[in-house]
Amino acid sequence: MFRMVDLIEKKRDGFTLTNQEIEWMIDGFTKGEIPDYQMSAMAMAILFQGMTHEELGVLTLSMAKSGDQFDLSAIHGIKVDKHSTGGVGDTTTLVLAPLVASLGIPVAKMSGRGLGHTGGTIDKLEAIPGFKVEVSEQDFIDLVNKNKVAIAGQSGNLTPADKKLYALRDVTGTVQSIPLIASSIMSKKIASGADAIVLDVKTGAGAFMKTVEDAQALATEMVAIGNQVGRRTMAVISDMSQPLGVAIGNANEVIEAINTLKGNGPKDLVELCLVLGSQMVYLANGASSLEEARQKLEENLQNGKALEVFKTFIASQGGDASVVDDTSKLPHALYDIDVVADKNGYVTSIVADDLGVAAMMLGAGRATKESQIDLAVGISVLKKVGDKVVTGEPFVRIHSNQEHVEDVMSKVKEAYTIGDEKIYQPLIYKVITSK
Ligand code: URA
Ligand code: CA
Repeated sequence: MFRMVDLIEKKRDGFTLTNQEIEWMIDGFTKGEIPDYQMSAMAMAILFQGMTHEELGVLTLSMAKSGDQFDLSAIHGIKVDKHSTGGVGDTTTLVLAPLVASLGIPVAKMSGRGLGHTGGTIDKLEAIPGFKVEVSEQDFIDLVNKNKVAIAGQSGNLTPADKKLYALRDVTGTVQSIPLIASSIMSKKIASGADAIVLDVKTGAGAFMKTVEDAQALATEMVAIGNQVGRRTMAVISDMSQPLGVAIGNANEVIEAINTLKGNGPKDLVELCLVLGSQMVYLANGASSLEEARQKLEENLQNGKALEVFKTFIASQGGDASVVDDTSKLPHALYDIDVVADKNGYVTSIVADDLGVAAMMLGAGRATKESQIDLAVGISVLKKVGDKVVTGEPFVRIHSNQEHVEDVMSKVKEAYTIGDEKIYQPLIYKVITSK
């Protein structure tokens, strides 16, 4: 039908691929009929030449169709999914799922495990005694219809074309292509069955996109793809130069989520949840404006409704919901070790990556896919950027199951800079909506 070499040359020379060409290419690549070396050359050509919105829409849908697709049509209402490009101590899903559901909006979330210095929602939920992340498709649908919320581990053969392509990109210098990243992320969201999508694109030292400009380019591309393929999509560009909230680590982040749902969350986490949550509620037609959506969410944080939904959600998936009233029932580490300041001043920067790595060294994260994690360990961030510190005052608390943590401590110290200036660190750089 087509010859792959012709398509590579076409893209290399800056021409636009047709829908049929793209569909044929992804289908052939998924089946193993197009060899890795030709697909790698195509990825490089796309990296240099880019793709039109139409090309990207077709590429994304072709990848979404390359494997299993979840059909959530048996769930009543508009299913909005939230996706974060990944960060350190990002507790938003644990808060947002019950919060948005408390307004009657269905949250049917499939989540992953953590890898490297970033955590995964599924691991965090497993810190709750008894909680089951493996749920059959039918039970998942029934739970969402009944409670408006369920979170399950990813199962099945989702977007094999993306899996293969991502592995190739990883070893051919073609990861950093905005069209390829955008289609990769969006293909997975679409295959998971979302009707509408809210994207949290992180920027800063702890993020995949190091600059606001790159984050904005990626967010704009993803919003365009979503709307192109009939899934209403919005995005937020948020800071990941320092960790979000005050807790890193699995049980530690569950406690943080509980505190937030009780109305006592850290300011940055609460704000990001409200901004992302407003978009979710608005896209699901739960409010006629973002402002109205925010007001409703604020109410349910204050009046305890979101917390009640969280309890029901935990109990419905086999977990011990009494942890909400007594967080000492969650796993906790043997030692709490403070890291103290050796001078007076203000925290001027915290490298989120470094704190993420420190938490991973304690056992909170996986160095490889096969690593076992320790749900009890983690890091509490006592001082954030802009906070004042005095000599001898703790700025980080390490929760460890080993008594000696010198290496973790030096990583934590490496993450922090203490200077003379009081710096203001923005949390949200941009909100990207579409008509
Ligand atoms: N995350 C993804 O899922 N895909 C990419 O290409 C990059 C980051
Ligand atoms: Ca956190």
